[in-house]
Amino acid sequence: MAGLKGLPVLVIGATRGIGLAIARELSRQGVRLGLTGRDPDRVARTASELGAWGRALDVRHPEAVAETVERFAKEVGLYGLVYNAGVSPVFARAERIGLEVWQEVLAVNLTGAFVACKAFAGSVQGPGSIVLVGSVLSLRGGARLAAYTASKAGLWGLTRALALDWADRGIRVNLLAPGWTETEMTQGLREHPRIGQDLLKEIPLGRMAKPEEVARTVTFLLDPENTYLTGGVYAVDGGVSAR
Ligand SMILES: NC(=O)c1ccc[n+]([C@@H]2O[C@H](COP(=O)([O-])OP(=O)(O)OC[C@H]3O[C@@H](n4cnc5c(N)ncnc54)[C@H](OP(=O)(O)O)[C@@H]3O)[C@@H](O)[C@H]2O)c1
Repeated sequence: MAGLKGLPVLVIGATRGIGLAIARELSRQGVRLGLTGRDPDRVARTASELGAWGRALDVRHPEAVAETVERFAKEVGLYGLVYNAGVSPVFARAERIGLEVWQEVLAVNLTGAFVACKAFAGSVQGPGSIVLVGSVLSLRGGARLAAYTASKAGLWGLTRALALDWADRGIRVNLLAPGWTETEMTQGLREHPRIGQDLLKEIPLGRMAKPEEVARTVTFLLDPENTYLTGGVYAVDGGVSAR
């Protein structure tokens, strides 16, 4: 089975957390890897560790997102895209979420994904595969996480719409829906004495995921031999969405 070996895959948001685990996993699979992150030094270090193409990118700038995807396609080629960039800056009831924060979350989590996917479809020559990193909150409501939940539910809608639009071009689009994972994003909640314990009680497996456990599924979704997988959502959540 040839799998992903030698295929060019770009991971947007790959210098820490789940994105870094995805980049390492894809590198192990022998892809021609491209990665982005906001901090140029971190990008350079990670790209050098993994022998990857790297570029600093802030996804709040749509032109830069499109230009990065196009440049990767031109310099390396293009088969796969993983859009992992995401923020969750507030944990508060909806009436306390300001418009500025709302717009920031939507810009990073959803608009950046749309722009990257559009650039991907404009650049890819043959068949391709896109994985958007959503969340278990793509499928359920998240209390005190209105902006984040809306953005991640939006990604699930986007996944299905793009899968329909691009099925005739052989571009598969799927959503990965991680549950609670041990990264910087969840550090504050994990360390909170009450909220941290409450969260664990919600998880049937009784613990958060390690980023590596989430990353493995991306290989499966991108694999060109999984030709019939498109428009789906894949929860890696320790059983949370089974409730
Ligand atoms: N941790 C969880 O429990 C969990 C659960 C479900 C889904 N997720 C999703 O998984 C993805 C990765 O999250 P994580 O847990 O690994 O969080 P993290 O450690 O906070 O990493 C966030 C990622 O998003 C990138 N990012 C944030 N703002 C950006 C911007 N303006 N431009 C470019 N990149 C930006 C970061 O890049 P820099 O390194 O450059 O800042 C980093 O790669 C996110 O989409 C998140 O919503 C996480």
